[in-house]
Amino acid sequence: MTATAQSLAALIQTMPKAELHIHIEGSLEPELIFALAQRNGVSLPYADVAALRSAYAFTNLQSFLDLYYAGASVLLHEADFYDMAWAYFERAAADHVVRAELFFDPQTHTARGVPMGVVIEGLYRACQDAHTQLGISADLILCFLRHLSEDEAIETLQAALPWRDRFIGVGLDSSEVGHPPEKFARVFAQARALGLHVVAHAGEEGPPAYIWSALDVLHVERIDHGVQAIHDPALMQRLAQSRVPLTVCPLSNLKLCVFGRLEDHNLKHMLDAGLCVTINSDDPAYFGGYLNENYQQTFQALKLNAADAKTLAANSLQASFAKDADKARWLRELDACFASA
Ligand code: ADE
Ligand code: ZN
Repeated sequence: MTATAQSLAALIQTMPKAELHIHIEGSLEPELIFALAQRNGVSLPYADVAALRSAYAFTNLQSFLDLYYAGASVLLHEADFYDMAWAYFERAAADHVVRAELFFDPQTHTARGVPMGVVIEGLYRACQDAHTQLGISADLILCFLRHLSEDEAIETLQAALPWRDRFIGVGLDSSEVGHPPEKFARVFAQARALGLHVVAHAGEEGPPAYIWSALDVLHVERIDHGVQAIHDPALMQRLAQSRVPLTVCPLSNLKLCVFGRLEDHNLKHMLDAGLCVTINSDDPAYFGGYLNENYQQTFQALKLNAADAKTLAANSLQASFAKDADKARWLRELDACFASA
Protein backbone atom coordinates (compact mmCIF):
# COMPACT_ATOMS: atom_id res chain seq x y z
CA MET A 1 0.00 0.00 0.00
CA THR A 2 1.66 3.22 -1.10
CA ALA A 3 0.19 6.67 -0.99
CA THR A 4 1.51 10.15 -1.61
CA ALA A 5 1.66 12.44 1.40
CA GLN A 6 -1.35 14.26 0.03
CA SER A 7 -3.46 11.15 -0.52
CA LEU A 8 -2.43 9.79 2.89
CA ALA A 9 -3.61 13.02 4.51
CA ALA A 10 -6.92 12.71 2.65
CA LEU A 11 -7.31 9.08 3.73
CA ILE A 12 -6.68 9.99 7.36
CA GLN A 13 -9.24 12.76 7.09
CA THR A 14 -12.00 10.64 5.57
CA MET A 15 -11.53 7.23 7.19
CA PRO A 16 -14.09 6.30 9.86
CA LYS A 17 -12.54 6.31 13.31
CA ALA A 18 -13.34 6.25 17.01
CA GLU A 19 -12.20 8.71 19.65
CA LEU A 20 -11.79 6.85 22.95
CA HIS A 21 -9.89 9.37 25.07
CA ILE A 22 -11.39 12.83 25.16
CA HIS A 23 -12.08 14.72 28.39
CA ILE A 24 -15.10 16.75 27.42
CA GLU A 25 -14.05 19.55 29.79
CA GLY A 26 -10.80 19.62 27.81
CA SER A 27 -12.72 20.53 24.66
CA LEU A 28 -13.74 23.92 26.11
CA GLU A 29 -12.22 26.45 23.72
CA PRO A 30 -11.21 29.82 25.23
CA GLU A 31 -13.94 31.55 23.22
CA LEU A 32 -16.59 29.30 24.78
CA ILE A 33 -15.05 29.73 28.25
CA PHE A 34 -15.48 33.49 27.91
CA ALA A 35 -18.98 33.21 26.43
CA LEU A 36 -20.12 30.96 29.28
CA ALA A 37 -18.41 33.16 31.87
CA GLN A 38 -20.41 36.12 30.57
CA ARG A 39 -23.66 34.14 30.35
CA ASN A 40 -23.25 32.91 33.94
CA GLY A 41 -21.70 35.99 35.55
CA VAL A 42 -18.49 34.14 36.42
CA SER A 43 -15.35 36.27 36.59
CA LEU A 44 -12.11 34.91 35.13
CA PRO A 45 -8.57 35.93 36.10
CA TYR A 46 -7.76 36.66 32.42
CA ALA A 47 -8.56 39.87 30.52
CA ASP A 48 -9.58 38.17 27.28
CA VAL A 49 -9.32 35.09 25.06
CA ALA A 50 -5.79 35.96 23.93
CA ALA A 51 -4.58 36.34 27.52
CA LEU A 52 -6.09 32.98 28.47
CA ARG A 53 -4.65 31.25 25.42
CA SER A 54 -1.21 32.67 26.14
CA ALA A 55 -1.29 30.87 29.51
CA TYR A 56 -1.39 27.52 27.65
CA ALA A 57 2.32 26.76 28.10
CA PHE A 58 2.62 23.65 30.22
CA THR A 59 5.61 21.96 31.80
CA ASN A 60 3.90 18.80 33.07
CA LEU A 61 0.47 17.31 33.78
CA GLN A 62 -0.14 19.31 36.98
CA SER A 63 0.61 22.67 35.33
CA PHE A 64 -2.12 21.85 32.80
CA LEU A 65 -4.64 20.50 35.33
CA ASP A 66 -4.52 23.73 37.34
CA LEU A 67 -5.72 25.68 34.29
CA TYR A 68 -8.12 22.97 33.13
CA TYR A 69 -10.01 22.97 36.44
CA ALA A 70 -10.13 26.79 36.39
CA GLY A 71 -11.59 26.71 32.85
CA ALA A 72 -14.32 24.27 33.93
CA SER A 73 -15.53 26.74 36.59
CA VAL A 74 -17.75 28.48 34.01
CA LEU A 75 -19.96 25.38 33.67
CA LEU A 76 -23.05 25.79 35.85
CA HIS A 77 -26.24 24.84 34.00
CA GLU A 78 -27.42 21.91 31.90
CA ALA A 79 -27.26 24.07 28.77
CA ASP A 80 -23.55 24.78 29.46
CA PHE A 81 -22.72 21.08 29.50
CA TYR A 82 -24.83 20.54 26.39
CA ASP A 83 -23.19 23.43 24.50
CA MET A 84 -19.69 22.24 25.41
CA ALA A 85 -20.35 18.69 24.21
CA TRP A 86 -22.20 19.84 21.10
CA ALA A 87 -19.27 22.03 20.06
CA TYR A 88 -17.03 18.96 20.36
CA PHE A 89 -19.38 16.78 18.34
CA GLU A 90 -19.49 19.28 15.47
CA ARG A 91 -15.68 19.14 15.28
CA ALA A 92 -15.69 15.36 15.62
CA ALA A 93 -18.14 15.04 12.73
CA ALA A 94 -15.81 17.12 10.55
CA ASP A 95 -13.03 14.64 11.43
CA HIS A 96 -15.21 11.63 10.45
CA VAL A 97 -15.41 10.36 14.00
CA VAL A 98 -18.16 7.70 13.94
CA ARG A 99 -17.85 6.74 17.60
CA ALA A 100 -16.92 8.92 20.59
CA GLU A 101 -16.58 7.88 24.23
CA LEU A 102 -16.50 11.03 26.35
CA PHE A 103 -14.83 11.25 29.75
CA PHE A 104 -16.37 13.65 32.21
CA ASP A 105 -15.25 14.66 35.72
CA PRO A 106 -18.36 15.04 37.91
CA GLN A 107 -16.37 15.88 41.05
CA THR A 108 -15.02 19.04 39.37
CA HIS A 109 -18.62 20.24 39.17
CA THR A 110 -20.37 18.76 42.22
CA ALA A 111 -17.63 20.31 44.41
CA ARG A 112 -18.85 23.73 43.14
CA GLY A 113 -22.48 22.91 43.97
CA VAL A 114 -23.55 21.82 40.47
CA PRO A 115 -25.95 18.87 40.84
CA MET A 116 -24.92 15.53 39.33
CA GLY A 117 -28.11 15.44 37.25
CA VAL A 118 -27.32 18.80 35.61
CA VAL A 119 -23.92 17.49 34.46
CA ILE A 120 -25.11 14.13 33.21
CA GLU A 121 -28.37 15.25 31.60
CA GLY A 122 -26.69 18.05 29.64
CA LEU A 123 -23.95 15.77 28.34
CA TYR A 124 -26.35 12.90 27.65
CA ARG A 125 -28.71 15.07 25.61
CA ALA A 126 -25.77 16.20 23.46
CA CYS A 127 -24.81 12.54 22.93
CA GLN A 128 -28.33 11.75 21.77
CA ASP A 129 -28.38 14.72 19.39
CA ALA A 130 -24.94 13.75 18.07
CA HIS A 131 -26.45 10.43 17.06
CA THR A 132 -29.64 11.72 15.49
CA GLN A 133 -28.24 14.88 13.87
CA LEU A 134 -24.60 14.00 13.09
CA GLY A 135 -24.63 10.19 12.89
CA ILE A 136 -22.04 9.88 15.68
CA SER A 137 -22.51 7.05 18.16
CA ALA A 138 -21.58 8.54 21.54
CA ASP A 139 -21.48 7.43 25.16
CA LEU A 140 -20.24 8.81 28.48
CA ILE A 141 -17.56 7.49 30.85
CA LEU A 142 -17.58 8.92 34.40
CA CYS A 143 -14.06 9.57 35.71
CA PHE A 144 -12.96 9.67 39.34
CA LEU A 145 -10.38 12.29 40.29
CA ARG A 146 -7.44 10.32 41.64
CA HIS A 147 -6.01 13.19 43.71
CA LEU A 148 -9.14 12.87 45.88
CA SER A 149 -9.89 9.95 48.20
CA GLU A 150 -11.43 6.62 47.32
CA ASP A 151 -14.29 7.35 49.72
CA GLU A 152 -15.10 10.45 47.64
CA ALA A 153 -15.01 8.31 44.49
CA ILE A 154 -17.43 5.84 46.09
CA GLU A 155 -19.76 8.73 47.06
CA THR A 156 -19.56 10.00 43.48
CA LEU A 157 -20.49 6.61 42.03
CA GLN A 158 -23.42 6.36 44.45
CA ALA A 159 -24.57 9.89 43.57
CA ALA A 160 -24.52 9.00 39.86
CA LEU A 161 -26.56 5.78 40.22
CA PRO A 162 -29.93 7.44 39.50
CA TRP A 163 -28.40 8.08 36.02
CA ARG A 164 -26.86 4.59 35.70
CA ASP A 165 -28.37 4.14 32.22
CA ARG A 166 -26.79 7.36 30.99
CA PHE A 167 -23.12 6.35 31.24
CA ILE A 168 -21.41 3.14 30.15
CA GLY A 169 -18.28 3.05 32.27
CA VAL A 170 -15.91 4.58 34.77
CA GLY A 171 -12.37 5.89 34.42
CA LEU A 172 -9.61 7.36 36.55
CA ASP A 173 -7.89 10.66 35.78
CA SER A 174 -6.18 13.79 37.22
CA SER A 175 -2.75 13.90 38.95
CA GLU A 176 -1.18 10.49 38.43
CA VAL A 177 2.11 10.31 40.35
CA GLY A 178 1.49 9.46 44.01
CA HIS A 179 -2.04 8.20 43.29
CA PRO A 180 -1.65 4.61 42.02
CA PRO A 181 -4.59 2.66 40.60
CA GLU A 182 -4.78 0.34 43.62
CA LYS A 183 -5.94 3.31 45.71
CA PHE A 184 -9.28 2.82 43.86
CA ALA A 185 -9.59 -0.99 44.04
CA ARG A 186 -12.92 -1.01 45.92
CA VAL A 187 -14.74 1.56 43.80
CA PHE A 188 -13.64 -0.15 40.59
CA ALA A 189 -14.88 -3.50 41.96
CA GLN A 190 -18.23 -1.84 42.69
CA ALA A 191 -18.37 -0.38 39.18
CA ARG A 192 -17.62 -3.77 37.63
CA ALA A 193 -20.33 -5.37 39.76
CA LEU A 194 -22.75 -2.81 38.32
CA GLY A 195 -21.85 -3.97 34.81
CA LEU A 196 -19.96 -0.79 33.95
CA HIS A 197 -16.94 -0.77 31.65
CA VAL A 198 -13.69 0.13 33.40
CA VAL A 199 -10.68 2.08 32.09
CA ALA A 200 -7.93 4.08 33.82
CA HIS A 201 -5.19 6.55 33.03
CA ALA A 202 -1.90 4.79 33.75
CA GLY A 203 1.65 5.32 32.56
CA GLU A 204 1.14 8.88 31.31
CA GLU A 205 3.74 10.26 33.74
CA GLY A 206 3.53 7.41 36.25
CA PRO A 207 5.69 4.26 36.20
CA PRO A 208 4.98 0.91 34.50
CA ALA A 209 3.94 -0.43 37.94
CA TYR A 210 0.78 1.70 37.65
CA ILE A 211 -0.09 -0.03 34.37
CA TRP A 212 0.38 -3.44 35.99
CA SER A 213 -1.94 -2.52 38.86
CA ALA A 214 -4.53 -0.97 36.54
CA LEU A 215 -4.59 -4.35 34.75
CA ASP A 216 -4.32 -6.70 37.72
CA VAL A 217 -6.05 -4.79 40.53
CA LEU A 218 -8.62 -2.64 38.70
CA HIS A 219 -9.06 -5.16 35.82
CA VAL A 220 -9.35 -2.37 33.27
CA GLU A 221 -10.42 -3.07 29.70
CA ARG A 222 -8.25 -0.28 28.26
CA ILE A 223 -5.27 1.73 29.46
CA ASP A 224 -5.43 5.49 28.89
CA HIS A 225 -2.01 6.71 27.69
CA GLY A 226 0.25 3.80 28.76
CA VAL A 227 3.30 5.22 26.98
CA GLN A 228 5.59 4.47 29.98
CA ALA A 229 5.08 0.74 29.30
CA ILE A 230 8.03 1.01 26.92
CA HIS A 231 10.40 0.89 29.94
CA ASP A 232 9.22 -2.59 31.00
CA PRO A 233 9.78 -5.44 28.48
CA ALA A 234 7.59 -7.90 30.43
CA LEU A 235 4.75 -5.39 30.43
CA MET A 236 5.17 -4.77 26.69
CA GLN A 237 4.83 -8.53 26.18
CA ARG A 238 1.74 -8.67 28.37
CA LEU A 239 0.11 -5.81 26.45
CA ALA A 240 1.00 -7.33 23.09
CA GLN A 241 -0.35 -10.78 24.05
CA SER A 242 -3.54 -9.54 25.71
CA ARG A 243 -4.14 -6.80 23.12
CA VAL A 244 -5.50 -4.57 25.90
CA PRO A 245 -5.88 -1.30 23.98
CA LEU A 246 -3.87 1.82 24.79
CA THR A 247 -5.54 5.18 24.13
CA VAL A 248 -2.47 7.22 23.22
CA CYS A 249 -2.66 11.02 22.89
CA PRO A 250 0.39 12.29 20.98
CA LEU A 251 -0.22 16.06 21.04
CA SER A 252 -1.08 15.87 24.75
CA ASN A 253 2.19 14.02 25.43
CA LEU A 254 4.05 16.70 23.48
CA LYS A 255 2.36 19.65 25.22
CA LEU A 256 2.81 18.11 28.69
CA CYS A 257 6.48 17.40 27.96
CA VAL A 258 6.21 13.61 28.22
CA PHE A 259 8.22 13.66 24.97
CA GLY A 260 10.42 16.58 23.98
CA ARG A 261 9.53 16.35 20.28
CA LEU A 262 6.77 14.50 18.44
CA GLU A 263 9.56 12.78 16.48
CA ASP A 264 10.62 11.15 19.77
CA HIS A 265 7.18 9.70 20.51
CA ASN A 266 7.15 5.92 21.03
CA LEU A 267 3.81 5.23 19.31
CA LYS A 268 5.49 3.53 16.34
CA HIS A 269 7.60 1.32 18.61
CA MET A 270 4.48 0.21 20.43
CA LEU A 271 2.65 -0.50 17.16
CA ASP A 272 5.62 -2.48 15.87
CA ALA A 273 5.70 -4.45 19.14
CA GLY A 274 2.14 -5.60 18.42
CA LEU A 275 0.28 -3.45 20.95
CA CYS A 276 -3.28 -2.34 20.21
CA VAL A 277 -2.49 1.38 19.95
CA THR A 278 -5.09 4.05 19.20
CA ILE A 279 -4.72 7.80 18.58
CA ASN A 280 -6.82 10.29 20.57
CA SER A 281 -6.93 13.98 21.42
CA ASP A 282 -7.21 14.01 25.29
CA ASP A 283 -7.90 17.75 25.83
CA PRO A 284 -7.96 19.18 22.30
CA ALA A 285 -8.75 22.79 23.21
CA TYR A 286 -5.60 22.93 25.32
CA PHE A 287 -3.19 20.80 23.30
CA GLY A 288 -3.49 22.29 19.84
CA GLY A 289 -5.57 19.83 17.90
CA TYR A 290 -8.60 17.61 17.58
CA LEU A 291 -8.45 14.01 16.43
CA ASN A 292 -7.34 14.43 12.82
CA GLU A 293 -4.69 16.93 13.80
CA ASN A 294 -3.30 14.32 16.19
CA TYR A 295 -3.21 11.79 13.35
CA GLN A 296 -1.74 14.18 10.78
CA GLN A 297 1.04 15.55 12.97
CA THR A 298 1.93 12.09 14.30
CA PHE A 299 2.02 10.59 10.80
CA GLN A 300 4.36 13.33 9.61
CA ALA A 301 6.65 13.20 12.63
CA LEU A 302 6.94 9.40 12.75
CA LYS A 303 6.74 8.83 8.98
CA LEU A 304 3.78 6.47 9.28
CA ASN A 305 2.10 5.06 6.17
CA ALA A 306 -1.35 4.10 4.87
CA ALA A 307 -1.15 0.62 6.42
CA ASP A 308 -0.53 2.27 9.80
CA ALA A 309 -3.53 4.54 9.24
CA LYS A 310 -5.80 1.57 8.59
CA THR A 311 -4.41 -0.30 11.61
CA LEU A 312 -4.88 2.68 13.94
CA ALA A 313 -8.43 3.34 12.75
CA ALA A 314 -9.35 -0.36 12.97
CA ASN A 315 -7.84 -0.56 16.46
CA SER A 316 -9.93 2.42 17.57
CA LEU A 317 -13.16 0.90 16.26
CA GLN A 318 -12.42 -2.56 17.69
CA ALA A 319 -11.34 -1.13 21.06
CA SER A 320 -14.54 0.88 21.45
CA PHE A 321 -17.43 -0.18 23.67
CA ALA A 322 -19.91 0.12 20.80
CA LYS A 323 -22.24 -2.68 19.76
CA ASP A 324 -20.64 -5.46 17.69
CA ALA A 325 -22.97 -4.79 14.75
CA ASP A 326 -21.91 -1.12 14.64
CA LYS A 327 -18.24 -2.05 14.86
CA ALA A 328 -18.63 -4.53 11.99
CA ARG A 329 -20.33 -1.88 9.83
CA TRP A 330 -17.63 0.75 10.49
CA LEU A 331 -14.89 -1.80 9.81
CA ARG A 332 -16.50 -2.58 6.44
CA GLU A 333 -16.62 1.16 5.70
CA LEU A 334 -12.95 1.38 6.65
CA ASP A 335 -12.12 -1.48 4.24
CA ALA A 336 -14.03 0.28 1.47
CA CYS A 337 -12.19 3.52 2.17
CA PHE A 338 -8.82 1.80 1.67
CA ALA A 339 -9.97 -0.41 -1.23
CA SER A 340 -10.76 2.69 -3.28
CA ALA A 341 -7.53 4.47 -2.28
N1 ADE B 1 -7.70 15.17 32.96
C1 ADE B 1 -7.79 15.81 31.80
N2 ADE B 1 -6.74 15.53 31.03
C2 ADE B 1 -5.97 14.66 31.71
C3 ADE B 1 -4.75 13.99 31.45
N3 ADE B 1 -4.09 14.15 30.29
N4 ADE B 1 -4.25 13.18 32.40
C4 ADE B 1 -4.89 13.03 33.56
N5 ADE B 1 -6.03 13.63 33.86
C5 ADE B 1 -6.57 14.44 32.94
ZN1 ZN C 1 -6.67 11.92 29.56
